[in-house]
Amino acid sequence: MATKRSVSDLKEADLKGKRVFVRVDLNVPLDDNLKITDDTRIRAAVPTINYLREHGAKVILCSHLGRPKGVTPKYSLKPLVPRISELLGVDVEMANDSIGEEVEKIVAALPDGGVVLLENVRFHKEEEKNDPEFAKKLASLADLYVNDAFGTAHRAHASTEGVAKYLKPAVAGFLMQKELDYLVGAVSNPKRPFAAIVGGSKVSTKIGVIESLLEKVDILLLGGGMIFTFYKAQGHGVGSSLVEEDKLGLAIALIEKAKLKEVKLLLPSDVIVADKFAADANSKVVPASAIPDGWMGLDIGPDSIETFNATLDNAKTIIWNGPMGVFEFEKFAFGTDAIAQKLADLTGKGAATIIGGGDSVVVVEKAGLADRMSHISTGGGASLELLEGKSLPGVLALDDA
Ligand code: 3PG
Repeated sequence: MATKRSVSDLKEADLKGKRVFVRVDLNVPLDDNLKITDDTRIRAAVPTINYLREHGAKVILCSHLGRPKGVTPKYSLKPLVPRISELLGVDVEMANDSIGEEVEKIVAALPDGGVVLLENVRFHKEEEKNDPEFAKKLASLADLYVNDAFGTAHRAHASTEGVAKYLKPAVAGFLMQKELDYLVGAVSNPKRPFAAIVGGSKVSTKIGVIESLLEKVDILLLGGGMIFTFYKAQGHGVGSSLVEEDKLGLAIALIEKAKLKEVKLLLPSDVIVADKFAADANSKVVPASAIPDGWMGLDIGPDSIETFNATLDNAKTIIWNGPMGVFEFEKFAFGTDAIAQKLADLTGKGAATIIGGGDSVVVVEKAGLADRMSHISTGGGASLELLEGKSLPGVLALDDA
């Protein structure tokens, strides 16, 4: 992917008094009372908004929330306004739609440095269809475009891709830039040894990531439910562990590819097995090659943790995607917690540690280790696609640097 023009290239003369359409990803989790349960994505959008305000721009914030089919009150972005206002230190105005006359009026009345939040852009079905007429209507609200919605950059939607055709310049925000610097920059030009840790329940969802990382890394550590497909492919008994029967051949092919590429691929040497899939299951540690019938593997074992830790010791760049076990159950969270702790320690020793979105982010946050990682991605699907080596439509649409 070509390097893209950044918001930092735009100075006061480009921004003063200009209306800037800023696509952000404010798709944050809300509880039943519409209270925000994790505001990471809002906080991550602040630097770009502040920069634009400080340079006298009028900021038009656009985002989706959830996957509504048409106008759905519970997916309104209104509940986010107080938190955004608080973080920005300015009263953010809420529009009742993302296009139309009323929105135009609010934008026309915005003072320099003012901020308006458009209503959920997915209330219009044209958004996800990347409808050009709808994209033009969004574009008509502003003078230039900033995309800071990394979490949605893998979607070719009207507000993430289409609008960039009609609004120039079209540049990347600070969050987008940082995500790309780590997930593309650090991964293509890593300080070595470069290690990847890939977990998660299924091989099928991680094939692309594993294949792509095998081209780049020196070390690949595998954990999570997917390891049982590898064990079975190697001829071991796996008890009642999760196995994707149709991926046995693929598991062998990945092991062969690792050999060919001289990548040190490690599967856990021991596992914690349980007599049922439950938080209060009976559990014990067994060698990976001796999982008893009727038992299922739900975490990696202590020997594996020790070996993984020792293997990671000298790594200078480490990327992690996917938990090592069923971390939602305390009894089976040891492996995942141990990796989080190890990465935090390695960051302190100068390694670049990158947490690639999704469940691993939840774990790191829960363990209170978030600020001890070099980078935690705000994108689940988007970071996965980048790690698979794909280009993101929301990035491609921006102006080349
Ligand atoms: C996400 O949470 O991954 C992004 O906001 C994208 O949401 P989507 O999967 O509904 O497009």
